[in-house]
Amino acid sequence: MTVHQPPAPALVTGATSGIGLEIARELVRRGHEVLVVADRGVDDTVRALGAHRGALVSGLEVDLTRPSGVEAAVDRARELGVRTYVLNAGVGVHGPFRRTPLEDELRLVDLNVRSVVHLAHRVVPDLVAAGEGRILVTSSIAATMPAPLFSTYAASKAFLRSFAWSLRGELAGSGVSVTALLPSATRTPFFREAEMEHTHIGRAPKARARAVGRKAVDALLAGRAEVLPGLQAKAMVAIAAVLPQPVRSAFHGWFYAPGARM
Ligand SMILES: NC(=O)c1ccc[n+]([C@@H]2O[C@H](COP(=O)([O-])OP(=O)(O)OC[C@H]3O[C@@H](n4cnc5c(N)ncnc54)[C@H](OP(=O)(O)O)[C@@H]3O)[C@@H](O)[C@H]2O)c1
Repeated sequence: MTVHQPPAPALVTGATSGIGLEIARELVRRGHEVLVVADRGVDDTVRALGAHRGALVSGLEVDLTRPSGVEAAVDRARELGVRTYVLNAGVGVHGPFRRTPLEDELRLVDLNVRSVVHLAHRVVPDLVAAGEGRILVTSSIAATMPAPLFSTYAASKAFLRSFAWSLRGELAGSGVSVTALLPSATRTPFFREAEMEHTHIGRAPKARARAVGRKAVDALLAGRAEVLPGLQAKAMVAIAAVLPQPVRSAFHGWFYAPGARM
């Protein structure tokens, strides 16, 4: 008799909203137990995702900009035997670097960069020892070009793309895969949170978070290296590849300048 094992539990950071919420929803739909990690509103998300038939969903409300928050997530993930990690939580800080509050910039670095390195560093040895694991890192098409007026964000996403590829290379043959997700502009509260609704990108047409989440989970579970969900993401990455760096910077910077609807 064949006994079907349920898929291994998954942890998703930033799972209360936008892309992370849709990734968590998709993992639940595919039968994974999911641990929702975010800094607010976790109970509501656990209730909403838990309504799916047979769903096992739990939550952890922590601030991932704090090392203690990351450690709490690692502890809970170990208790649950998590084998799939979606390192997705991220924020943007918009505006001229000389005027943005330093604490906002450092918070961005702490969340987008530091928390991902910290969490991955703690869990990768466990996954390698188990001989299995899936990691998804949410980068962005902003990783492919410098971004005047969104400088630390683009740099953080370039870090994450490079980090995901490097880690993937190191872990080849270990049974652990690392996937970089590079979404284009996606309809989520992100632009409102970053006070960017008046910019060209804030007003541009956007991908649907649900479609991005579905493609991200397809790639994650298939162990693919990188996923560019949708035509816009593929086009932006192709354009970035052929432009010289000064043109890339000017082209990409235009998206973050104030502007009318495209
Ligand atoms: N939307 C886009 O166009 C786009 C494009 C490319 C890449 N991305 C990337 O996709 C990821 C998700 O963004 P999104 O668009 O889905 O944004 P979102 O809807 O604003 O979701 C961000 C998530 O991160 C959580 N979060 C924020 N600060 C946190 C902290 N200190 N500790 C723990 N959790 C925290 C948020 O929880 P709270 O709301 O409770 O703070 C929320 O669950 C980000 O890494 C973003 O850079 C987005």
